[in-house]
Amino acid sequence: MELTRAAFDDLRRSIHRLCGIVLTDDKEYLIRHRLEPVARRCGCRSFDEFRTKLAGSEAARLQEAVIEAITTRETAFFRDHHPFQALRQQILPELVRNRRNQGNTTGRPIRIWCAGAATGQEPYSLAILIHELAAASGADGSVPVDFSILATDVSTEALAAAKTGAYQRRQVERGLTAGQLHKYFEPCGDRWVVRPMLRKLVEFRRVNLIQPFNSLGVFDAILCRNVLIYFDEATRRAICGRFHAMLADGGWLLLGSAESLYGVSEQFASVRFGDSLVYRKTS
Ligand SMILES: C[S@@+](CC[C@H](N)C(=O)[O-])C[C@H]1O[C@@H](n2cnc3c(N)ncnc32)[C@H](O)[C@@H]1O
Repeated sequence: MELTRAAFDDLRRSIHRLCGIVLTDDKEYLIRHRLEPVARRCGCRSFDEFRTKLAGSEAARLQEAVIEAITTRETAFFRDHHPFQALRQQILPELVRNRRNQGNTTGRPIRIWCAGAATGQEPYSLAILIHELAAASGADGSVPVDFSILATDVSTEALAAAKTGAYQRRQVERGLTAGQLHKYFEPCGDRWVVRPMLRKLVEFRRVNLIQPFNSLGVFDAILCRNVLIYFDEATRRAICGRFHAMLADGGWLLLGSAESLYGVSEQFASVRFGDSLVYRKTS
């Protein structure tokens, strides 16, 4: 399908406006590869025709289809491993300790937000950590203090998959131990389905990070991993500024392994835990 320079520029501007994703000059193949099926499905013979349709009466439906096609939802349980070590050994125990020592003066659970949660492996990994923390505390295995995880994404398809909590063998084999698989998932046909004990800790919602999101409330930790990498610096700055405003004092921000706040925000202190660099809101 023909992709003129004008159509490429117009489409990447639309994508940036819709979800913040930046497509550099060398990303023509992405438009061809991911948007051509969308354009063909709606009867277009060229990308010029498609960009005209994208601004027409079917705009809302087509824009959703563009977001679904252009987002990359690569993820895995306990992805990169070491940030979850930091959560397991330092961050979650400290949040529980503070809550126990100070009592629940906030009137809310310990809240963790996975922003850009894709198909759910990240929030369910966190839910497993919380249960493992409870088991290690020697209690009856119930979660020691009230936790809640909010998992959001701009992709409706990713969220629908996350909500079903049903994963193929190759997905559960990426990151879960056999013990975790059998304790927290049940086999169902050729899938493994998240058990209710994890599911009840996680709420899923659609949130586009380039739109206002401060109504989501206050969080003790935010994971926004392997998401900011797709945005330009101005967008990263704006989003991290809003994360800062929504974190409780001493709250934590965890980014992906290839991401940092260098040149993006000076509002956080960086803290190293082993191989992980995490960020903390200072009061
Ligand atoms: C590579 S995945 C990362 C998933 C997970 N956080 C991880 O590290 O494994 C990136 C996710 O960011 C989401 N995303 C991209 N643009 C977004 C936006 N503007 N608002 C919210 N989510 C977005 C994509 O839909 C995708 O699910």
